[in-house]
Amino acid sequence: MKSLLGRAAFKSSGILEIGSYEEVALEYYNAALHPTCADFRSASRIVLQRLFSRDAPQGRIADVGCGLSLLSEFVTENLVLIDASSKMLAQNSRNIEKRLVNVEERSFAQSEFDWVFGILADPYNSAQAWNNLSSALKVGGSCLFVVPSYRWASKFRSSVLEEQPGFAHFVKADNSSIFLPSIVYPQAEQFALIESVRMRVSNFEQIFVRELTNISSPKISKVLAADDPILDVYFTDKM
Ligand SMILES: C[S@@+](CC[C@H](N)C(=O)[O-])C[C@H]1O[C@@H](n2cnc3c(N)ncnc32)[C@H](O)[C@@H]1O
Repeated sequence: MKSLLGRAAFKSSGILEIGSYEEVALEYYNAALHPTCADFRSASRIVLQRLFSRDAPQGRIADVGCGLSLLSEFVTENLVLIDASSKMLAQNSRNIEKRLVNVEERSFAQSEFDWVFGILADPYNSAQAWNNLSSALKVGGSCLFVVPSYRWASKFRSSVLEEQPGFAHFVKADNSSIFLPSIVYPQAEQFALIESVRMRVSNFEQIFVRELTNISSPKISKVLAADDPILDVYFTDKM
């Protein structure tokens, strides 16, 4: 096990020190350092390619927890980027409106958006954040919520000693290690969370390992087979 001193998690003693995305923002998109993030991003791109080819979202659109916005590869007009990390927001084009907001702590809009996207949204998959996602939508508006598959999260995080259920473990370029929140629910529990905030699930889809041309991350390839889902995708509407 790598040294976990400093900003560290001590699984054996039950102490878990939690980091923030600000600490990994500048290396998060380095595929050599973080192939798991890169594989999940490739799978998310498939979700967006499908959505935009069958039913391009219209109106005012928010990319919540945007990071380096994947959504901005598909739409730039009427798009607002929201993230709790200023270093993540800063990686995006200057021409797109940005809001520095922790969506678990405060609202980012009131009935403003036709579409809200949460792509790889497991860090803030909480009731507080869902309340704010719902409030930001117009009635009848839609939220696309994408998380690593429950199959992957449960299999991987229970099978590797350094991992913790409910957290993503990042070994950084300087070899230090941090844990970031990552909440992935089984389908029925996720449905219940969504329905608790005046939203309904209109569709549930998954992206499967076999749909990707390549999986670089052993964290994925060692626990999932070709026919296993890599992403869980929730299509939801505000009632
Ligand atoms: C797993 S990354 C995904 C980033 C991006 N959507 C993508 O697909 O590459 C999660 C993002 O959510 C942001 N984030 C985490 N917790 C957040 C919160 N409570 N409020 C707003 N953004 C948050 C992080 O800063 C990070 O940019």
